[in-house]
Amino acid sequence: MTILGVEQATYGVDDLTLGRRFFTEWGLAAEGDSFRTRDGTAVLLRHKGDARLPPPVEPGSTVREIAWGVADRAALDRLASRLAARVAIKRDAEGGVRFTDPAGFGVALVETRRRPGAATAIAVNTPERRQRIDTIGTFYKRAAPYRLGHIVLQVPDIPAMERFYREALGFWLSDRYTDRGVFLRGSAEADHHQLFLLQSPDAGAHFHHLAFEVHDVHEVFGGGLAFARQGWETHIGPGRHVISSCYFWYFKSPCGGAVEYFADMDSLTAAWQPREMPQSPEWFAEWALAAGIQQFGGVQR
Ligand SMILES: [Fe+2]
Repeated sequence: MTILGVEQATYGVDDLTLGRRFFTEWGLAAEGDSFRTRDGTAVLLRHKGDARLPPPVEPGSTVREIAWGVADRAALDRLASRLAARVAIKRDAEGGVRFTDPAGFGVALVETRRRPGAATAIAVNTPERRQRIDTIGTFYKRAAPYRLGHIVLQVPDIPAMERFYREALGFWLSDRYTDRGVFLRGSAEADHHQLFLLQSPDAGAHFHHLAFEVHDVHEVFGGGLAFARQGWETHIGPGRHVISSCYFWYFKSPCGGAVEYFADMDSLTAAWQPREMPQSPEWFAEWALAAGIQQFGGVQR
C-alpha cells in the first residue's frame, strides 16, 4: 500500500471570509486557514492571488493543489524516484514531493498526518437481529466529516491522466465509463474511488468536487439538512449512487466546484474486477432528489 488517499485539498479563492464560513458550517474544525476533518485530512484556503499557490487550471476560485498522503518517508522516497523519471519534482524539508500532473493540477505527496478516531457504534435493527433496545435511533444535528474521501477532476485527455496516475503513482483502476471517465483508487485495498477523472466539456481542465466521508446514511441526511438550513444551495441530492453504492448529497461551493457528504461506499481489494459501463443517469444514481429535501423542523427528543 502506498498512497492512502486525499490528504489535503488547497483552494485558491476570491473571498476568504466566505470560504471560511462555508467550510466551518460544513462541519470542519478551523485551525487558522486549515479546516480539518476528524481524522486530520483537511482543506486549506488561500487567496487566489497568493504566490505560494501553484498556477490555476481555470479562472476564479478552484482547487490549486491536491496532496496525497503516503504512509512514511520510505514510501515518499520510492514514489519520488518513480516520478522524477517522468516530471520535474520539488522536495521540501519534510520530504514532501510537489509536481504538476498532465492536466495542469498542482499535486503533492506528503507523509500522512491522519489519525483514525474512535469508532462510533451505531446499533441497527434488522428483521433478523435487534441491536437497539429501549433506545431511540441516531439523529445528527449537523455533520462532522470523518475524512476526505475522493476528488473529481474534469480533464481534456483522460488516457494521458490515467496512464500517469496508474504508471507513475501506482493507482488502481476500479471502473470505467466508456470513453468518458475512470474511477481510480490509490492502493489495492481502498474506497471504490479516491480519484475520479471525467471527460471535460471543453479543452480545459476543471475541478469538479471534493467528497467528505461521514459516518452513516443518517449523517448524510442530518448533516445535509443542517447545512441547507444555513442557506447553502444543493447541487444534487440526497441520493444513492449505483457505482460505489454510497449515499450522497452535493452542495455548490463558493470556493469552486461542489462538495459532497457521502457514506457507505464500496470498499475494494485486489480481487475486484473493474467494470465498464456507459455514462448514463441509470449508472449515476439509483435515485436522487434534484434540490434537497422538504424540512419539517428537526429532531424531537
Ligand atoms: Fe463523489
